[in-house]
Amino acid sequence: MIREANASDYDAMDNVFRVSAKAFCSRSYACQVIASWAGEPWPDRFLKSKESGDEQYVFTLEGKVVCFGSVNLGSHKLVSLFVSPEHSGKSIGQSMLEFLVARAESSGIPALKLDSSLNAVSFYERHGFTEIGRSMYRTKNGVEMESVQMEQKLCP
Ligand SMILES: CC(C)(COP(=O)(O)OP(=O)(O)OC[C@H]1O[C@@H](n2cnc3c(N)ncnc32)[C@H](O)[C@@H]1OP(=O)(O)O)[C@@H](O)C(=O)NCCC(=O)NCCS
Repeated sequence: MIREANASDYDAMDNVFRVSAKAFCSRSYACQVIASWAGEPWPDRFLKSKESGDEQYVFTLEGKVVCFGSVNLGSHKLVSLFVSPEHSGKSIGQSMLEFLVARAESSGIPALKLDSSLNAVSFYERHGFTEIGRSMYRTKNGVEMESVQMEQKLCP
């Protein structure tokens, strides 16, 4: 089930982020880049994200957080989507993506944008997003990662 995240989920969300980034993004980025981005626990990233206006949601199975996603309706952006590797390939990422797109659509915004890591570009393409640009994302430790800007037009 998908529900709104709360502060008591932040440790579990941080864990999903770090194992997912290591498992999936290691195919597209060097080890040092992944270590800088996801090497250390940092659950407060979600407090900062909440304070910046991100809506945060978790997908739980038997009470355990296996995926999280967030959307910022003010900036028209899907901010994050991560699935635990042990639960990938079971349509959980797709369900969360559809939930976030529906949330954006119901808010009346004309398009939803996102910055995708290289490994997830074809996942988003399969679900209606198109590439609109490329740029470098700087991690909190100053390491740069290539990211792909994507967009999906919405029909509010
Ligand atoms: C990308 C990610 C969210 C997919 O989640 P998932 O739960 O494993 O994917 P699903 O089971 O919902 O897959 C749905 C469909 O997309 C396809 N798909 C999944 N990951 C894909 C990928 N990386 N590239 C292309 N297609 C992909 C599946 O084959 C499936 O297709 P089907 O409906 O024809 O069977 C997950 O792999 C992940 O968390 N990756 C690491 C984090 C990340 O890169 N997030 C994006 C950064 S913004």
